Amino acid sequence: MRKDLAHGRPPNESVIRIGLDAADAVRHALLARPAGGPVAIVADQAVVAFAGRIAHTLQGSGIDARLCTMVADERAKSLDTVGSLAAQLLAHGITRAGVVVAVGGGIVGDTAGFLAATYMRGVRCIQVPTTLLAMVDAAIGGKSAVNVVLRDGSLAKNAVGAFAMPELIVCDAQAIATLPPREMLCGLAECVKHALLADAGLAEWLAANAMSIMAKDTTAVHELVARAAAVKVGIVDRDPTEQGERALLNLGHTYAHAIESRHDDRIKHGEAVAIGLVAAMTVANRLGRVGVAQVEALRALLERVGLPTSLQDLVPVPDPAATLRRCMDHDKKRAGRGLVLVLPEGDVGAGLVEAPPEDAVMAGWSSVGAA
Ligand SMILES: NC(=O)c1ccc[n+]([C@@H]2O[C@H](COP(=O)([O-])OP(=O)(O)OC[C@H]3O[C@@H](n4cnc5c(N)ncnc54)[C@H](O)[C@@H]3O)[C@@H](O)[C@H]2O)c1
Repeated sequence: MRKDLAHGRPPNESVIRIGLDAADAVRHALLARPAGGPVAIVADQAVVAFAGRIAHTLQGSGIDARLCTMVADERAKSLDTVGSLAAQLLAHGITRAGVVVAVGGGIVGDTAGFLAATYMRGVRCIQVPTTLLAMVDAAIGGKSAVNVVLRDGSLAKNAVGAFAMPELIVCDAQAIATLPPREMLCGLAECVKHALLADAGLAEWLAANAMSIMAKDTTAVHELVARAAAVKVGIVDRDPTEQGERALLNLGHTYAHAIESRHDDRIKHGEAVAIGLVAAMTVANRLGRVGVAQVEALRALLERVGLPTSLQDLVPVPDPAATLRRCMDHDKKRAGRGLVLVLPEGDVGAGLVEAPPEDAVMAGWSSVGAA
């Protein structure tokens, strides 16, 4: 299947092009609207062969494409990397009329997106996501950011960033051909979140198609990306500057961040989100927002897909609920405010709940196996 999703509003509009060959789609865009001078391809080293093919295709059409690579590591998602990439762009003679093409997952997309938003006060950007998570989430919405190392050595995630829409996002199943299964699952966790937020039929579809997705069947991947990306596009387009509805994309994330703060080394973000979704659904049930059948349906879907539903699935000895509860208060995103949870409501959808009852919050932790 092929599908275009329109995203953003003039003059900040973007097109998400799903199901086309990535190299062809980028080439087509740059022939339709040429860059003034060379174009920079900023790629994850893990996908250098794929990015090299894009560079080769562009060069074959007379487009001067220069390949720069970076390592996809949260510590490399930094102002230092942005500075070093900017120095490479200057050395390649890339001007204000240039274009940055980001080829990678969310780490490269965020770093190269921030580079594009700030290099010479802003140049055009094209995103070619190479993870499922980036296709349905990170590459969409025009937010980019890098991390900052604090004095104690810890990372302040996404502390410096910008809002700037990429003009084009190309989602090509070939880009995830080499993506490890665990990274595929992390992307699927965000797809489940999108299903809960705005597409009831997507949950059912995911349960039926989980195996085809994990096998990277091209048609299934493109259909999933089209549906899951549409949910994020809808939410971001109604709230482009993050004044309200966009916060709903944090469904499951307050619990997930607490889990990650304890086990950053062994648990991946998407895995923590899967567990966080179960906890949030349990709290919602406690507060009468959803029925018990919905909690069970979510667990069944996550298990069917191959995602964890309990801390025991990931760590030998789960933390005490009280410890994890305290970690929720340290979530940097809500410093200075009381606890606010995004909780599902009704058959599909979610809303913000300020200061939820403590027994319900703790029931969330018990439901995912906290000690
Ligand atoms: N800007 C936003 O709105 C937004 C939204 C969500 C997440 N993010 C950011 O996205 C980042 C996470 O992104 P991600 O999950 O895409 O992970 P990632 O970019 O860290 O990639 C995950 C791993 O997969 C590897 N990889 C990527 N593509 C590959 C491929 N095709 N084949 C083989 N290996 C491949 C990478 O090298 C890395 O080791 C975080 O930094 C997060 O803050 C940003």
